[in-house]
Order: sequence, then structure tokens, then C-alpha cells
Amino acid sequence: MKVFINKIIPDYGLGLLEQAGVEVTMWREPSVLTREQAIAFCKEHDAFLSAGQAGLDEGFFRECSHLKVVALHSVGFDGVDIAAATQLGIPIGNTPNVLNKATAETALLLMLTVARRALYLHRKIKKGEWGVSQPTLDLGFDLAGKTLGIVGLGRIGAELARMCTQSWGMKVVYHNRTRNEEAEREFGATWLPFEELLEQSDCVSVHTALTEETRGLFGYEQFKRMKPRAVFINTARGGVHREDELIRALQEGLIYGAGLDVTDPEPMEPDNPLLEMDNAVVFPHIGSSTVETRNEMSRCAAENILAGLKGERLPYPVNPEVYG
Ligand code: DGY
Repeated sequence: MKVFINKIIPDYGLGLLEQAGVEVTMWREPSVLTREQAIAFCKEHDAFLSAGQAGLDEGFFRECSHLKVVALHSVGFDGVDIAAATQLGIPIGNTPNVLNKATAETALLLMLTVARRALYLHRKIKKGEWGVSQPTLDLGFDLAGKTLGIVGLGRIGAELARMCTQSWGMKVVYHNRTRNEEAEREFGATWLPFEELLEQSDCVSVHTALTEETRGLFGYEQFKRMKPRAVFINTARGGVHREDELIRALQEGLIYGAGLDVTDPEPMEPDNPLLEMDNAVVFPHIGSSTVETRNEMSRCAAENILAGLKGERLPYPVNPEVYG
């Protein structure tokens, strides 16, 4: 049995595949494969382990309908035509849960970095502008006791809520399509209509999947509804906010600042105005980038591949309906 891997995954997951006797081809070049190149490789293999491959659309799955399994090296599966894969009988797997803590930590890191103006202050020293330390100069704001608004309170949002309530005594409000009663019990989280959440939160953190409903959810009007001292954080998907409108909101001081781990497109162009703004911080989509988390993600992906090759149900299926 042969598996194709389109990027360099941790030795941990790779070892699991090799120990199981699977023949592995791993693309180790720095260039990203085109959809056509990925198809060509997949045609020569029985399974595909995909780390962020673009173009997994209906045409891709039709061309590669022989695949016994496609294991994503991510929890997110936006951009993957799951319905087409299901129709063709291809099980798709992902890596749920193992990245909840790392991603929540990234959101917290962004919240603190923006609230305490950390990146701006670092740049200031580099420019030789440390100057005289005035008691009123370069003040940030406390997270402690503030209100955190979570849009999409699922497993990652719950980790963030846990950290923020336990360590900072923050109050949590949230907006979901359906109520998260467990979070209401555990963190005293309060469900609010979306507009009310915007108005009441000191930090708004996005943890929702990118869907037709959430694409462009945050634009100028939504930033305008937020408190002028509020921080906007997005570690979910760049498509959930409208970047040009966020830039305008930051320039006009409608909100205090923004911290992004996700952009649209990715990678962000190096001349993007956000990168020069003192009230914005951007990371290159590193939510799950810790050794421990990436090892665990590679384990989930390898386990999905091994099960799929044996014709067994995937341990982490995205489309369980493929089993009828
Ligand atoms: C995911 O797994 O979906 C994260 O965004 C990391 O890429």
C-alpha cells in the first residue's frame, strides 16, 4: 500500500506509517504542489495525506476516485469538497481536538500582544526610541475582569474561555447558532445575539468555521458596533473578516486593535498595510504550530491513513456518512 504526503510531516506520524509497512512518498521540496501535480502523485498511490493542499474539489476527487482515504493534516476542511468525496465513496479524515489548546493559546497570545501593545513597543526599542519612561506613556489595558466575546464557541473557543475565566477572571459571552449548554455551565458563558456580543465585549475572538454563512461576517459595520477600546482576534479563518474594512476600522480608531493568525489570502503580501500598523499583529497561521500538537496531528492523520488502507472506519472521520 502506498501513501502520498504533500508536505513534510513530523517523524512521529511518518514513523507510524513506515512501521506499519506502508510505502511513503513525501514531497520534501519547498515549493507547494499545484493541484495538477498533486493529482499526478495521487494517481500513483492508494492514499493521500494532505497538509493544506489547495484544489481538493469535485474534479480532484473524480480524477482520484481510486483513493482509499484522504487524511487532512488539519482540523479544518473548508475548501475540501466533502460532498463530492462522499459521493465517490472516499473517506476524509481530520485531526480534531489535539490542537484545541495550542490554538486557544495563540488567540490568548494575540489578545495579550495587542492589549499590551507588545509588538509596537518592541519596534520602538529597535528604532532607538525607548526614551524616558513616563507613568502615562505606552499604556495597554488589563484583560483581567474584562468581557471576552467568543464567536463560535466550540472546542477551541472553550479552551480559550477556560484559560480566560480561570486565570484572568474574564466574563465570557458567546454567539453560536445553537446554545453551548456545557460552556454555560462550566464558564457561566452567556449566549448573546451577535450584535449584542459586539457591543458588550472588550475582546472579540473568532473561532467559527468558514462557511457561506460566516464568510465576511466581520466588516466595517460590525467593527463600528464594537467598543472603541475593543480588540478583534481571528485564529479561525481569514475569510471570516473583510480585511480592507478591518484596515479602515483600525485606521479610524473604531477599535483598539486586531490580532490575526489567519488572513485571506494566505500567505499575506509583505506590503500589506496591517504589517505596518501599531495596533495590528499578524501571525502566519501558526495556531497549531507546537512540537507536541503537530506530533499529535501527524498521529491522527497516520491513524486515519492506516484505517482507510485497511478498509476500516477512520478514527477521525469528517464524512462518516460515507459508511452509509
Ligand atoms: C487547522 O487545523 O485547520 C488549523 O487551521 C491549522 O492549519
